[in-house]
Amino acid sequence: MYRTHNCGELRIGNAGQKVTLAGWVQKARNLGAMTFVDLRDRYGITQLVLEGTPELGREYVIQVVGTVVERENKNPKMPTGDIEIKVESINVLNKSVTPPFTIEEVSDGGEDLRAKYRYLDLRRAPLQRALALRHRLAQEIRNYLDGEGFMEIETPYLIKSTPEGARDFVVPSRMNPGEFYALPQSPQTFKQLLMVAGYDRYFQIVRCFRDEDLRADRQPEFTQIDCEMSFVEQEDVLNTFEGMMRRMFRNALGVEIPDPLPRMSWYDAMDNYGSDKPDIRFGMKIHQISELVKGQGFSVFDNAPYVGAIAVPGCAGYTRKQLDELTEWVKRPQVGAKGLVYIRLGQDGTKSSVDKFYTPEQIAAIADAAGAVTGDLVLILCGEKRKTQTMLGVLRIEMGNRLGLRDPKVFSPLWIVDFPLLEWDDETQRFYAMHHPFTAPKPEHEKWFWSDSKEDLERVCANAYDFVLNGTELGGGSIRIHNADMQKRMFEVLGIGPEEAERKFGFIINAFKFGAPPHGGLAFGFDRVCALFGGQETIRDYIAFPKNNQGRDVMIDSPSAIDDIQMQELCIASTASR
Ligand code: AMO
Repeated sequence: MYRTHNCGELRIGNAGQKVTLAGWVQKARNLGAMTFVDLRDRYGITQLVLEGTPELGREYVIQVVGTVVERENKNPKMPTGDIEIKVESINVLNKSVTPPFTIEEVSDGGEDLRAKYRYLDLRRAPLQRALALRHRLAQEIRNYLDGEGFMEIETPYLIKSTPEGARDFVVPSRMNPGEFYALPQSPQTFKQLLMVAGYDRYFQIVRCFRDEDLRADRQPEFTQIDCEMSFVEQEDVLNTFEGMMRRMFRNALGVEIPDPLPRMSWYDAMDNYGSDKPDIRFGMKIHQISELVKGQGFSVFDNAPYVGAIAVPGCAGYTRKQLDELTEWVKRPQVGAKGLVYIRLGQDGTKSSVDKFYTPEQIAAIADAAGAVTGDLVLILCGEKRKTQTMLGVLRIEMGNRLGLRDPKVFSPLWIVDFPLLEWDDETQRFYAMHHPFTAPKPEHEKWFWSDSKEDLERVCANAYDFVLNGTELGGGSIRIHNADMQKRMFEVLGIGPEEAERKFGFIINAFKFGAPPHGGLAFGFDRVCALFGGQETIRDYIAFPKNNQGRDVMIDSPSAIDDIQMQELCIASTASR
């Protein structure tokens, strides 16, 4: 037997027992006559005491036989800190070369190095905790959905393009020269076909692939908790998945979330938070102040279609230098503001950057409308309405970060509902589906959906919903179109001609002719769920083998060139210079 116990389970109650442990040498400290070793496995660390100076390097895999004894110097920070093992015999199971970085709670290795040796980084406790949380959550999801009558059904990975808005990863088909599969951006069309097939409650914890620019919360391949239900209205879907989330919070974190969860319309989210994924852990809401500031000779505000403000609590003491820095911050291309107007409501009086245009009473009224009280700093931006609200939203998050208002241990989930169905793009002069083209208009807005007027189409809302947690979109879905004519109309509105619609989506339009039930669903980004539950914004550490920001796996060195012979077999040529 390799071991009688693991490295995390022995306690003072085991004192006197003879045990066998196996694991990795995290650290060996030689004190002349004795050597202390931290023996690690995925369950924890146990201290070993050996006589003499055995040759034990970091990461050696060893097996020891010894007796559990009470420690003289107890370590209350370790679960096994009351005991140590007085080793009688030691067996080196495998040696290790010196690892490129320390494998401890906090490593001395840089990100690139740790990515190259991911299997060593994965030995570290923080990553083991992250993957354990991921596992726990996956079990909770499966148990909950199984209990609710959902069937887990796998859908194919070699498919054709699904319109989720990103670029596809494609796979050449050797057997069909010149033709390509696309990897699914989501199983959207397949899950809808499963509804047509009568599997009225489907789920899948499934890999999705999107060739898009990477960020902390985006990977080119990521995992969705993908779900679909038949004979449901929005209310049924929201209740079902609120239940799932409630259970995940309770069983994995011991956290109770509000029942029912708050809901906010997309319009209110944009107006008040400048974001369709508002962080509602803190206030600092956006206030429109257009009427109050116009007509006083300040041309910047006079010419702006929208003027909005936030009141930053307790920041009236911001110095000139800090305000200049903040102004530069909002002018960065990532934010895109032209300038920043401020009002400081100090104890010793009010001071603003527009004092020459407004009377003290007017300034007081503006600050009041922004929701400010003495001690606050009012920040004002102006311009086109939604753009300015978005900038104020970004500024709000930044000030929330600076003031420490975004505690990762506080969880404020909510639903965003009533999304517009379509989004007009000035550049390409066409509509895009705000969620995806399978989302149905709200029944009461259908009349506008068939209209040719841009204004009417812009008014159409959808029974689409997002699950938002702490400023991150964790999931989204909608009630779907289940009627072939309406689906055709949708493609028409999106400027997809009948031939193209037939070529790309004929299979689903056709399926809708065979008795498609009313249906709807949603998908959560599982990696994001795990990261946020773990108190992080970066999903990388919740994925065993993630890609870096260039979409590379530096451990296996992928992507990489393929042989000419393979290229020929696949009937493809590369235009890239190697
Ligand atoms: P959507 O495109 O909103 O909807 O995706 C659902 C959720 O998946 C997560 N997500 C990602 N996570 C990590 N890396 C990425 N690159 C990435 N892209 C998306 C997000 C997002 O909320 N088929 C629809 C769902 C439906 O309508 O049922 C869909 O895929 O958390």
